[in-house]
Amino acid sequence: MATIIDGRVVSASIRESLSREVQTLVSQGLRPPHLVAILVGNDGGSQTYVGAKEKACHEVGFLGTVIRYPDTVTEEELLEKVNEINHNDQIDGLIVQLPLPKHINENRVTLAIAPEKDVDGFHDVNMGRLTKGADGIKPATPYGITLMLKHYGIPTEGKHVVVIGRSNIVGRPMSILLSNPGETGNATVTVCHSRTPNLSWFTQHADIIVAALGKPGFLTGDMVKEGCVVIDVGTTRVDDPTKKAGWRLCGDVDFASVEPKASAITPVPGGVGPMTIAGLLVNTLKARKASIEAHTA
Ligand code: GUN
Repeated sequence: MATIIDGRVVSASIRESLSREVQTLVSQGLRPPHLVAILVGNDGGSQTYVGAKEKACHEVGFLGTVIRYPDTVTEEELLEKVNEINHNDQIDGLIVQLPLPKHINENRVTLAIAPEKDVDGFHDVNMGRLTKGADGIKPATPYGITLMLKHYGIPTEGKHVVVIGRSNIVGRPMSILLSNPGETGNATVTVCHSRTPNLSWFTQHADIIVAALGKPGFLTGDMVKEGCVVIDVGTTRVDDPTKKAGWRLCGDVDFASVEPKASAITPVPGGVGPMTIAGLLVNTLKARKASIEAHTA
């Protein structure tokens, strides 16, 4: 029987300690952290995620604002708004929910965000700092996963970690974080992807697997060894007529066949999802503290 790694519990404990830190700031007469999210269009998933981020901000006492645009917004309009927020010292963190409509260059928008307000950790400056093991803002989802491993006392040092997927948002930064020196690093990391032959050979030799490829039920029991730790980052909506919404969230892991072999595993939903938000909130408080320091120096 595997330990079910409960992201909701870990996230709640992190949010409690963030609430206390906000109370301390406010008791010193300082403004709480302020996160702004830009949401373009009406993609159902993006609306749900941004709504959850806004709600989490308010729960811990942050200011949280969502700026909505129709999917006809131009890249110039978006860049202008990003620039305005960059110069607004009442705002500490800015995220632009991805994906953006095809006529907008996501990279250009991401790079327009001031690195010190980039609480998603997507900017080249923050990715560069991550790669060098320097202090910066860490990508929210991979960072959240390390917080979860730490909470459950799952060591990474000397372990063989297989990351499936090489996206800029999860797979690539996850592989860097886990191989960097540090408490939740020092692992030997293999990055597998769509061009990896015999992918199951790698997963069968992994102590920890992070599945982040976006293919529902991809990782099956025959692909893992006894006692492995499995982190499922997948969040694909699949049709399910038995659900009120007509769909359910499906991870990249076939839970039914992997769980009996694993020593610990994250469920979907309720695993990594809440940790992305926890990572984002921790980053926003960090940005707020840096801004306070910059203004009092
Ligand atoms: N789209 C999917 N995941 C994320 C995320 O963590 N941040 C943003 N901004 N967009 C996303």
